[in-house]
Amino acid sequence: MQENQPSRTSIYAAIFRALHQTVDEDPKILADWIASRLIDVSSGDYQVRLAECEQPRARVARSNIVLRGRYAEDCLGEAIARGVRQFLVLGAGLETFAYRQPPWASALQIFEADHPATQAWKKEKLAMAGIIPPPNLTLSRFRPTQIVTTLRRIGFSRVEHFTPEQARQRYFIERGDGLAGLDGGQVTQLMRAIV
Ligand SMILES: C[S@@+](CC[C@H](N)C(=O)[O-])C[C@H]1O[C@@H](n2cnc3c(N)ncnc32)[C@H](O)[C@@H]1O
Repeated sequence: MQENQPSRTSIYAAIFRALHQTVDEDPKILADWIASRLIDVSSGDYQVRLAECEQPRARVARSNIVLRGRYAEDCLGEAIARGVRQFLVLGAGLETFAYRQPPWASALQIFEADHPATQAWKKEKLAMAGIIPPPNLTLSRFRPTQIVTTLRRIGFSRVEHFTPEQARQRYFIERGDGLAGLDGGQVTQLMRAIV
């Protein structure tokens, strides 16, 4: 991650999700009809991945991204059935679940946390695509070292004192390198706060 620059890896992940909609067979593993609206199909990044999309290595990389997305969303559906009401995506990048959420997610409070530069860039892309953030979404900038404070501020439950019942009501995913800036102690502190 470079300060003041949106995440490069989040661009690649979004390109893979977009390519999955057009170059992979049906049924799709992850039906993400918004991904292509957040990427620039004239960019070199996209064109290179399109040109090599049938290569075995490219298919594996694309599968990795769409499978982990599908798995997380399936688990989220099960978690909602168990009573989960808060969903945090740490290092959200250009992920689109909140903007294409199914009706079963409407009772959910969704939090997207990301580096300020990536988040500002995503907001611009959403606005340019005419995509309006849903009312059950809270966007939060975060720096790994301040994550517990940030979660408390945005209302991701009460991160220090929660009952077992409250703890069961939260679901958290981290996909990518959102925890990369934390040392072991900070990861432990974060996990104690949210799991
Ligand atoms: C590999 S991308 C994954 C994006 C998204 N989860 C996806 O699968 O499309 C990693 C994400 O973590 C965020 N991230 C990486 N390092 C970060 C840091 N030090 N502070 C905050 N966010 C960070 C990036 O901005 C980026 O959105």
